[in-house]
Amino acid sequence: MKTILITGAGGFLGSRLVRRFSAGTSAAPHFPQTEPDAVSPYRVYPLSGRAPDIRDAAGLLALFRQVRPDYVIHCAAVSDTGRCEREPEFSYSVNVIGAENIAIACRASGAKLIFCSSDQVYFDNVRIASPVPHRESEKLYPSGVYGRQKLEAEKRCAAACPDTVSLRLSWMYDTGKPGPEKHGNLVTTLRGLLDNPDPDARLAFPVYDRRSLTDVWDVAINMEAALDLAPGVYNFGSPNPLNTYETAAVFLSLLRGTSGNGGNSVAGAGGQNSGDLGNGGNSVAGAGGQNSGDPGNSGNRAAGAGGQNSGASRNSGSSAAASGQSSGVSGNACNRAAAPSIQNASDPRLVPDCQRFASCPRNLQMDLEKLSLAGISFPTAQEGFVRSLSRSRP
Ligand SMILES: NC(=O)c1ccc[n+]([C@@H]2O[C@H](COP(=O)([O-])OP(=O)(O)OC[C@H]3O[C@@H](n4cnc5c(N)ncnc54)[C@H](OP(=O)(O)O)[C@@H]3O)[C@@H](O)[C@H]2O)c1
Repeated sequence: MKTILITGAGGFLGSRLVRRFSAGTSAAPHFPQTEPDAVSPYRVYPLSGRAPDIRDAAGLLALFRQVRPDYVIHCAAVSDTGRCEREPEFSYSVNVIGAENIAIACRASGAKLIFCSSDQVYFDNVRIASPVPHRESEKLYPSGVYGRQKLEAEKRCAAACPDTVSLRLSWMYDTGKPGPEKHGNLVTTLRGLLDNPDPDARLAFPVYDRRSLTDVWDVAINMEAALDLAPGVYNFGSPNPLNTYETAAVFLSLLRGTSGNGGNSVAGAGGQNSGDLGNGGNSVAGAGGQNSGDPGNSGNRAAGAGGQNSGASRNSGSSAAASGQSSGVSGNACNRAAAPSIQNASDPRLVPDCQRFASCPRNLQMDLEKLSLAGISFPTAQEGFVRSLSRSRP
């Protein structure tokens, strides 16, 4: 039986990986057992509660020598990009030095390291973003603190432990029952909008932004195959040809489809999400702290943009309808980025943010050929979302 040590086991991804590897079954991934059972071929060692803190190199070495893991999936991080910008030295100590400590302990104990990196390494404001998905072999110039730290951690981990697989994860969500996670995600934010009785509530998403978006359970399911990947860096998430506004519109429309009462309650999870978001009225758009994949700028900025941009959204909506043009990240005009068919199908409270990234469109889309050649594939973001909704229905 192989032993898997999972760091950040109390976090969004780590907690699900613990459940996934403990249950060892793909039959009901949203309702996995929490204890190892006879089915699971793995012994899971969840490292949570900072015991030890990953900045404690000696503590990690002692623990790893005792546990002797075959694999370490390193999820622990300061994943809030906003906090990384505000506290770069602190986040460096966790995201870079902490990751290197884990790699050193892996090398010393003979474990293979699976390091959770991020698509934010592709956030490059130096060059004008092209809409072409990024490959692992590209030269990178991450502009954000978090992305820079993840890239440095990838390199330091590979140097300290040659048997390291770095997975560049995308923005993730879960349509199932909210877990104990400390941050929201796109789905909790959209459900907050559906649950908000205030007709003036607005939620804005950038049109000049493209990124993969992945059901966290698809990541958890594919993680088993990732254990066998050859050392190196891999993009790891669902491909998504839509811009972020379009993606939110499609997801919102699908979420409304699962609502039994016109959108006020979704798939039985509305109450819990309201509680999670702790909001009412207009605060819906700002209360989510929207996601840890990009929390520094999506949730709260979207809220601000929603309020501030209601005029812009009206403009863009009408010009989109008038122009009949579909989205194009390379376009300069806002109306090129809103697809009228999607907008019509969606909640009018969801508005395109045409300012954010307008001067330099963001493209975090990932090319998945390398992963596919290694035998691992993800559904598209939209397929994954549809599948996720059907999985999570009681
Ligand atoms: N969520 C996304 O959409 C996304 C996207 C791309 C990449 N990623 C990456 O994927 C990984 C998992 O993300 P996530 O969303 O699951 O993150 P998360 O929910 O924020 O969980 C991170 C975990 O790390 C732990 N941690 C933080 N500092 C620590 C320290 N000094 N020592 C030990 N543990 C520490 C936290 O423990 P406490 O609870 O005690 O603070 C928390 O449980 C991260 O590396 C993240 O950067 C996430």
